[in-house]
Amino acid sequence: MTLSDDAVRFAASYTEITRNPSYLQLLTVPRHGSTNTYDHSVRVAQLAHRLAPKLGIDPDSAARVGLLHDFCLVDYHKNDKDSGHDGRWYCFYHPEDAVKNSLAAGFPLSRKEQQAIRSHMFPLASSVPSSRLGCLLTLCDKAIAAQESFAGAAESYVRFKLLLSLGSARAVRVVRRNTYDRFFG
Ligand SMILES: [Fe+2]
Ligand SMILES: [Fe+2]
Repeated sequence: MTLSDDAVRFAASYTEITRNPSYLQLLTVPRHGSTNTYDHSVRVAQLAHRLAPKLGIDPDSAARVGLLHDFCLVDYHKNDKDSGHDGRWYCFYHPEDAVKNSLAAGFPLSRKEQQAIRSHMFPLASSVPSSRLGCLLTLCDKAIAAQESFAGAAESYVRFKLLLSLGSARAVRVVRRNTYDRFFG
């Protein structure tokens, strides 16, 4: 699943984050079976930025928490037991890592923005969204995650059908060859 032209343009309006070398490493971290964490974050940020004015939320703040909410370089598809998180599950520690990594990379975050990021995995989180910004981020993240997971499932289904049709085409060829051999061989 690739970024739309709109999303690419949106990312270009936040180059202080989206062109940062450590943030760009998110391109190598897969997400939801069809995308990577960089593209996922851009989609979440774009949706949050679009919805924010309707809810009386600062769109710039919504974009920033969207871009930074998953700023954790651990690939949860692999065994992450040795990632220095004391055996905790990814869903609980990656929002905390995202805040730490954002501040370490020089992206300032207000207390409210930090809290929104920490609680974005609600109900699988150690805190509950306590602001409109937090609720918006949580909902946008889930909506985009569902869309990406569905795209991943659809791609797998198409691949499966393709393999199946290749398999049946091969079976037809074998049957034809055997029939030919039996009568004309
Ligand atoms: Fe997340
Ligand atoms: Fe996310």
